[in-house]
Amino acid sequence: MNEIIEAIKKASIKIKGIIEQGDTSKSDNQNSTGDTQLKLDIASDIVIEKEFKKIASIKQIVSEEQENIVDIHKDGKYLIAYDPLDGSSLVDVNLSVGSIYGIYENSFTGKNIIASVYVVFGPRVEMVIADGKTVKMYRLYDEDFKYIQDIKLNEKGKLQAPGSTQKCWYPYHKKMIDDFFAQGYRLRYSGGMVPDLHQILLKGGGLFSYPSTSDLPKGKLRQLFEVFPFAFVYECAGGEAVDGISRVLDVETLHIHDTSPCFFGSCEEIKKVKEVYLKNA
Ligand code: F6P
Ligand code: MG
Repeated sequence: MNEIIEAIKKASIKIKGIIEQGDTSKSDNQNSTGDTQLKLDIASDIVIEKEFKKIASIKQIVSEEQENIVDIHKDGKYLIAYDPLDGSSLVDVNLSVGSIYGIYENSFTGKNIIASVYVVFGPRVEMVIADGKTVKMYRLYDEDFKYIQDIKLNEKGKLQAPGSTQKCWYPYHKKMIDDFFAQGYRLRYSGGMVPDLHQILLKGGGLFSYPSTSDLPKGKLRQLFEVFPFAFVYECAGGEAVDGISRVLDVETLHIHDTSPCFFGSCEEIKKVKEVYLKNA
């Protein structure tokens, strides 16, 4: 596992360079979910794949930017699903973006995730590792990631990040979001899930939601590359992650690019989500 973390560190230093100096224009390709790929997405993907190919303990990888699973070493143990540069369209407006990695064993399913890592590229570069027991944050100084702190969520937070297109929200979802605001929750939403979820983790708690909507009944965020890795981080930090009703890590994956509605938060907020969704969905 250590060599995987070292590969992620090396890739992140290169991706930092790509973000700072790379071309932010669109490529001619679309990924399998139909998003037009930016040249930055493709360049970051190539960097990560190159680092992972050197590691004997990795059996397979799958990138949000590629159609299929890539076989790496047949005797390897780990399967890695990653989103090389989440929120890449925010680079040209100079907002924070991130990379997300889910590390699985045996198969790419929520039940088999054993660790996850995300890297935030903001004014500073920070890496967060969840290993099933703790969530640890590191910060990049020159070429070195230094340990900064463990991350633990409070029982209840003060922030909410409500994602997706509001005109497509179901009425019970809108009411739930309004109720949180009426209780005093403050809006924190940049449109990049990595910095938005990182902020909630570091500021003690709250709720990030990306629901089922009338235009996207299964939400937008991808299970293997986005939803499961962050669900694992939130659970390790003492919070919860659900699809509205069930623990999202128990949701089945039929296809590697499947999406799922998702809610990440501290326990109090998730309790309220489950109450609302059990009654209405
Ligand atoms: O990868 C998808 C993503 O860019 C996430 O980082 C972000 O949370 C979400 O899309 C934003 O979507 P929307 O603009 O629909 O709220
Ligand atoms: Mg993404």
